[in-house]
Amino acid sequence: MKRHTCFAVVVLLLLSTVTSQSQGPASVEQRVNALLARMTLAEKLGQLQQLDGEGNGNFRPEHLELIRKGMLGSTLNVRGAANTNQMQRVAMNESRLKIPVLFGFDVIHGYRTIFPIPLAEAGSFDPALAERSAAVAAQEANNVGLRWTFAPMVDIARDPRWGRITEGAGEDPFLGAAFASARVRGFQGSDYGAPDKVLACAKHWVAYGAAEGGRDYNTTDLSENTLREIYFPPFKAAVDAGVGTFMSSFNAINGVPASANTFTLTKVLRDEWKFDGFVVSDYTSVKELINHGVAGDEQEAAAAALNAGVDMEMVSRSYNTYGAQLLNQKKLSPATIDEAVRRILRIKFRLGLFDRPYTDEAAETNALLKPDSIRLAREIAGRSMVLLKNDRDILPLNKNAGSIAVIGPLADDRRAPLGWWAGDGKEENTVTPLAGIKAMVSPQTRVTYAKGCEVKDDSTAGFQEAVNLAEQSEVAIVFVGETHDIVGEAASRSSLDLPGKQLALVQAIHATGKPTIVVLINGRPLSIGWIVNNVPAILESWMGGSQSGNAIADILFGDVNPSAKLPVTFPRAVGQVPVYYNYMHTGRPPEAENRYTSKYLDLPWTPLFPFGYGLSYTKFKISNLQLSAPRIPANGKLTVSTEVENTGQRAGDEVVQLYIRDTVASMTRPVKELKGFQRVTLKPGEKRRVEFTLTSQHLGFWNRRMRYVVEPGEFKVMVGSSSADVIEAKFEVAN
Ligand code: BGC
Repeated sequence: MKRHTCFAVVVLLLLSTVTSQSQGPASVEQRVNALLARMTLAEKLGQLQQLDGEGNGNFRPEHLELIRKGMLGSTLNVRGAANTNQMQRVAMNESRLKIPVLFGFDVIHGYRTIFPIPLAEAGSFDPALAERSAAVAAQEANNVGLRWTFAPMVDIARDPRWGRITEGAGEDPFLGAAFASARVRGFQGSDYGAPDKVLACAKHWVAYGAAEGGRDYNTTDLSENTLREIYFPPFKAAVDAGVGTFMSSFNAINGVPASANTFTLTKVLRDEWKFDGFVVSDYTSVKELINHGVAGDEQEAAAAALNAGVDMEMVSRSYNTYGAQLLNQKKLSPATIDEAVRRILRIKFRLGLFDRPYTDEAAETNALLKPDSIRLAREIAGRSMVLLKNDRDILPLNKNAGSIAVIGPLADDRRAPLGWWAGDGKEENTVTPLAGIKAMVSPQTRVTYAKGCEVKDDSTAGFQEAVNLAEQSEVAIVFVGETHDIVGEAASRSSLDLPGKQLALVQAIHATGKPTIVVLINGRPLSIGWIVNNVPAILESWMGGSQSGNAIADILFGDVNPSAKLPVTFPRAVGQVPVYYNYMHTGRPPEAENRYTSKYLDLPWTPLFPFGYGLSYTKFKISNLQLSAPRIPANGKLTVSTEVENTGQRAGDEVVQLYIRDTVASMTRPVKELKGFQRVTLKPGEKRRVEFTLTSQHLGFWNRRMRYVVEPGEFKVMVGSSSADVIEAKFEVAN
């Protein structure tokens, strides 16, 4: 083809697609290739670069010059329609190829309307709720110029010392997969280019949650079986839900850093799962390959990451600085660079960025804090809080209680409930528990408040005032837990106890003899043994977002019947960690009377609260478990059904959970694995049969030769209200 014909074809291709919004996959590929054909090496490397704005959402003025030269493909943290438009105008009007900038931000559990932390939301066992909260977050984010969220975070976490446990769906791969896919659907919808959607990012690929000792950024060492069965499933679910991007994690996996890991980035993600979006590194994780000791310098780091499959580099600039040299030295191939650029451009086209690069500045605030969103935040928070204890039905409280002492460092705190990743949530929009309670009680009820102590320091100077208030009241509610800055990233803790003097405050209030209720506001499981043994009622409210105070009041006063379950095991003490429900049997399972079995001398082996546990103001009975057949073929289907009945006095929701165990297999299998759950709403006295289907998808595992197999033999099936409270039956998978 002569040069001018070739040029004409390119122009035609470009023109043909500028006009169409509903391009099929072929036309996107044509547009990508046409553009790629015109790009210089510098422009290609530019697309692979993401840089950070300034802390407050502004862009860095020097980045405009990079955009003008086509050397900056994406930013993070820049937001606000005026900011993003100003940058975008430079890209669209002043750069040679007019490739729009992609604006990303961590919209983890809300942008301005803040929803409960993802860990809490997972406790609702209702993925549809997470889909709705992500959809609100997407709409708010899109309106302020953002097109990409670094969420969902789908890391399985079995270690509550790790502060980032707050950001994921907890310890279970099946629950995690359900929430991963719901969140992707919520953020992206069926078309992430729609004006109320954003591109999602499954992170952190992979095993970041397995950091040794729960210390953030630490290394991991995991068998391929554990990776495939525990850590991969939520990511696979995100791919199946159509997620557009992945983020490679900070940690090393079996000696190979995740940001240079060909096995995870290319073999699994591309070859096995056929992911065609792009992978962004985590913050400077490309350059950090030097610290990991797998690259001698930045040049080697760039080659290792790009060759392994990290397409876009966040913040460090190794690709841009050394890309040309690496090409010359043949340490990088032109095809590798082209493929990374292609993946990024593909997503930019699918996002519709070329056709709609700007954001309507006049409409920017229209989507923020809409009344429906605030209502939803309250509803979801109420459905995410777990009633841990309620002796003598001390809860719910009477709105005419007469006098209530509201006590504790978190009773009137506006920041903690927003969690670590608070998006652009504002403290002034937080309803604190104190405000929620005051708004709820009857005008005759006197509500008094004393802080008692701080979360983190050792002063007890405020105790006496708090004790006096409790003594003068009919009931005391104590709000204790964690501040936002001791959960989340770089917030690992070696203790899971309540920080500071908070336990002593609870003890002082309890010593008054007044009925005492503890409400926890925290981002991870805590070892609260004394409270569990002594205080009659405990509500785990997590970090419940903007509306948490109202949602807490809804539950405390019975407008909402608590229904959430724990998405993660609560240890008795940090020394039990890691403790999770789906552990492998040992040759010597624990026995009370036998010393030489797998247990502790100084603690029971059981956790404080098991996975899946949570109470209600009513009672449920799960009974009459039935299987559709005693035996099924390996590729067959089994229907499992059970009755659930509300035997109490109030309407309520029960989360019926289904677990299996492969009793004898060619490899040790977990004692239990969650393979189904259903939330059922029942009136008092109402009974319903719920049904689950088990297939080879649920029954198999990765064998010694790393093949997914369903082995013949006996299986147990268990249904119940928590992982520790089940009824069971057996069936067989035939030869
Ligand atoms: C975190 C990511 C986050 C990124 C950008 C990193 O430190 O690990 O989860 O998306 O920063 O803010």
